[in-house]
Amino acid sequence: MAQRKTSKAIDELTEKEAKSEHARLEAEISEHDQLYYQKDAPRISDAEYDALRRRYEEIEKRFPDLKTLTSLSMRVGAAPSGKFAKVKHAVPMLSLANAFSEDDVRDFVGRIRRFLRLSEGEPIAFSAEPKIDGLSMSLRYEKGELVSAATRGDGAVGEDVTANIRTLKAVPQRLKGRHPPSVCEVRGEVYMTKSDFLKLNARQKESGGQIFANPRNSAAGSLRQKDPKITASRPLGFFAYGWGEISDMPAKTQSGMAEWFKTCGFDTNPLMKICRSVEELIKFHVGIEERRAKLDYDIDGVVYKVDRIDWQERLGYVGRDPRWAIAHKFPAERATTVVKGITITVGRTGTLTPTAQLEPVTVGGVVVQNATLHNEDYIKGIGGDGEQIREGRDIRIGDTVIIQRAGDVIPQVVDVVIDKRPKSAKPYQFPKKCPCYLHTDIVRETTAAGEEGARARCSGEFACPFQKIEHLKLFVSRRAFDIDGLGEKQIELFFEKGWVKEPAEIFTLESRNKKIKLEDEEGFGETSVRNLFTSIRNRREIPLDRFIYALGIRHVGDTTALALARGYGSWKAFHDAALKIAKGDEEAVADMDSLDQIGDTVIEAVKTYFGESHNRGIVERLTKEVTILDAEKPRSDSKVAGKTVVFTGALEKITRDEAKTMAERLGAKVSGSVSKKTDYVIAGPGAGSKLAEAKKHGVKVLSEEEWFKLVS
Ligand code: IVH
Repeated sequence: MAQRKTSKAIDELTEKEAKSEHARLEAEISEHDQLYYQKDAPRISDAEYDALRRRYEEIEKRFPDLKTLTSLSMRVGAAPSGKFAKVKHAVPMLSLANAFSEDDVRDFVGRIRRFLRLSEGEPIAFSAEPKIDGLSMSLRYEKGELVSAATRGDGAVGEDVTANIRTLKAVPQRLKGRHPPSVCEVRGEVYMTKSDFLKLNARQKESGGQIFANPRNSAAGSLRQKDPKITASRPLGFFAYGWGEISDMPAKTQSGMAEWFKTCGFDTNPLMKICRSVEELIKFHVGIEERRAKLDYDIDGVVYKVDRIDWQERLGYVGRDPRWAIAHKFPAERATTVVKGITITVGRTGTLTPTAQLEPVTVGGVVVQNATLHNEDYIKGIGGDGEQIREGRDIRIGDTVIIQRAGDVIPQVVDVVIDKRPKSAKPYQFPKKCPCYLHTDIVRETTAAGEEGARARCSGEFACPFQKIEHLKLFVSRRAFDIDGLGEKQIELFFEKGWVKEPAEIFTLESRNKKIKLEDEEGFGETSVRNLFTSIRNRREIPLDRFIYALGIRHVGDTTALALARGYGSWKAFHDAALKIAKGDEEAVADMDSLDQIGDTVIEAVKTYFGESHNRGIVERLTKEVTILDAEKPRSDSKVAGKTVVFTGALEKITRDEAKTMAERLGAKVSGSVSKKTDYVIAGPGAGSKLAEAKKHGVKVLSEEEWFKLVS
């Protein structure tokens, strides 16, 4: 959640604090990306997500050294989930920067003017259109025939959903018109109308199927089906608005391209308009916002694109965003309703989250019955930055409140209508005991700075049943043990039956099965049980980073786990260090602190985890069941060991990620910005400011070819 009660102004952060917060934000944002892009199940609102992202980017702006090639600023979306085959996009699918205010729009136009060296008097035509809250898609046509369809994925590699896309009426199998370009990638947004979404959910409810939170999730869920027949039964539309690889450009402007898409048989947004000044852009934004509720598809803003394509090409990109386009977002949608009750849920890490039970109300076409209240302070109306409730307003059961939903799943309470407060309404008392059957004490989290944090946690750690089951789910998840046939559903069943209460018991399941008789359970047969045991056996060997991630240490996401695994090399080394840290050994703390991407938050979490005897027991029993493979140690004998390198421009032989992994394996440190300390800049075609920086500092510049020669 975007709750940073103690967060400092960016200007006041020390370098160390910035490093630690940057890493923590990176893990948090990656997790939300996963939930949004792969599970189609976001947990926070777009506004909260944007706030996290903004802070992350501001930190990078002040401390450019933190911006490495793996930085989120260089990525879009999340890597493909593995459910579908992968497709490498011929031209990356990028994202859009956001504008939230008129000033942001003015800055955007000003930047373009400066970049193109246009005088104030020279008009710039923009093609403006609604920003559809759907799923971006790249459709590849060769000789006019549809050959593949891919989701955006992480921007470089998406998922192959061709079979599913072929079932959409809105996507032509063959481009209309006589002379289609030999290669043409049409890009746009797959969406579901609001009315179809409501009908689908009604049907799903009747048949006991998955209920979707909003039209975007239902479009994503409908498209990411293994069986195209299911996709075919779901009404999905498509608006074309862009292109990827194309052998012949049929037009010179964005609006001309839209016209051409229409002649090919695509729908384009009928509200698209040419605007020639900031004032016209703003007017367009206001006009579309007024029509928003009446439109039958969800939009979350409007997009402005420089109409002339030659200008788009000159303007190019900054990181993952084009300089020639921007998304001007709408403020969230709001409604008024009454709080009927407040419930508390316990997450994997024991964090207690209060939720308001509401009198059902429609916000932007979606019926809302719950809203997150974040934490105790939020209910008390004690604000910090990033929080949206009005300062000093507490929330009580019986209150009339204003809730907000921003194209998201979990709406939030943003204000209380004090005039309507019933006389009998009393300030809410946050529970002192966990709702789990242990009724353990609830404690307020301490921040790295030693202050009281906003979050309340159950002190029961893994003894708390809520935490245990969530821990088990994380343990078997895709980026942890990833055991085929053992997903959340099975874990819930095994836990309920008392067969698996902690990770080690997954591995003793087979030997206990004579008594358990899993094959007699509904949904299991002899073959599936045999397969399950085989996949469990196959996972008795596990790479160190996955193992560390699977332990479920707070703040240790997969990226951090990898950094720890690379830093320590072996389980023994990591485990010894963790035990020492738990005992307060300062040398061990300093060692961990010296690792790239690791800061106070992670160290504190390792300390708490291994300081708890229950956790140490879980780990000990688990390590008896599995073999943990050493991580690849970076080499110290290569020519680039200990050197700092920066990759810039396009690489032709390998991807950026591969280049980074390779350099790191050879013992080099990969940085995202050039400074005096940089040893090599590897520059591919299109290299810009970093190349100039390298020249300024006298840093050696290598071509991709020369780099390979150096390291081979
Ligand atoms: S133009 C270089 N136009 O918004 C990217 N994008 O937040 C140019 N989107 O990834 C994208 N409606 O999936 C464009 N009318 C529209 C859009 C649109 C929705 C999505 C698209 C993009 C995301 C960025």
